[in-house]
Amino acid sequence: MKIINKVDELRKQVEMFRGEGKSIGLVPTMGALHGGHKSLVERARSENDVVVVSVFLNPTQFNNKEDLRTYPRTAEADAAMLESCGVDIAFMPTVEEIYPEPDTRVFKLGPVAEVMEGAMRPGHFNGVCQIVSKLFMMVEPTRAYFGEKDFQQIAVIRAMIKQLGFKLDIVQCPCIREDDGLAKSSRNVRLTPQVRKVAPNIYRVLCDSLEFAHDHSVEQTHDWVVATLNAYPEMEVEYFSICDGITLQPVEDWDASDYIVGCITVYCGDVREIDNITYKKPESL
Ligand code: PAF
Repeated sequence: MKIINKVDELRKQVEMFRGEGKSIGLVPTMGALHGGHKSLVERARSENDVVVVSVFLNPTQFNNKEDLRTYPRTAEADAAMLESCGVDIAFMPTVEEIYPEPDTRVFKLGPVAEVMEGAMRPGHFNGVCQIVSKLFMMVEPTRAYFGEKDFQQIAVIRAMIKQLGFKLDIVQCPCIREDDGLAKSSRNVRLTPQVRKVAPNIYRVLCDSLEFAHDHSVEQTHDWVVATLNAYPEMEVEYFSICDGITLQPVEDWDASDYIVGCITVYCGDVREIDNITYKKPESL
């Protein structure tokens, strides 16, 4: 595995691979790699000739500077994990290398980027689009891999690709969970032991809501999930939206779309956990 820190060197390497007609899989990450990232890398490994993983803690997507300051940084362990997964290139640049000039681009993607995380974390998705579009331009991947844990991020990236005309496939990969159901996340290490015990109820309640939804309306299902989770003193739902899986706009009834997802954010103590559940999905996706 080559560890590359410079953009020019990265471009040279991927151009060489492209010249040889090789497919390139890109897995963008912010480091602090865990089993969720590993599954993305393994999928990319199985579907491409060359695998590039970027490890870059992108400052422009953090609307909360304290979150950026305390985000886990584990570069050595990350490199070791990527090496063991058979990655070809680990791209680990500095902030100055990626942003020699401030990135002043503003992405206007419309309603998909203005609800839920888009509304609660101003600038977050703009920062995600800044770094992801830069990576797409640098690597020109055949495929890029993203986890469904960040379901809204995938919807926003799809909208960006459509608007900018990038030619690549987005591979939407299942959320990887701990044995007790908690979605794997780099931020889980911040949960206190007591809150960590309660946090798996987020996914348990979301799963139970699949059954509940069979004979209840969207609104009843929404209210039931929120009330059930808020009954735990350690947790507080920030939002839960039952929405269209492409546009992220709320749906009012179960027939409103053939792709319906519930997206939730819950404060577990002072840690913000996001998760989601799919109620309906077309076979073609
Ligand atoms: O999902 C993430 O870890 C980040 O948002 C991403 C896509 C790597 C961009 O920094």
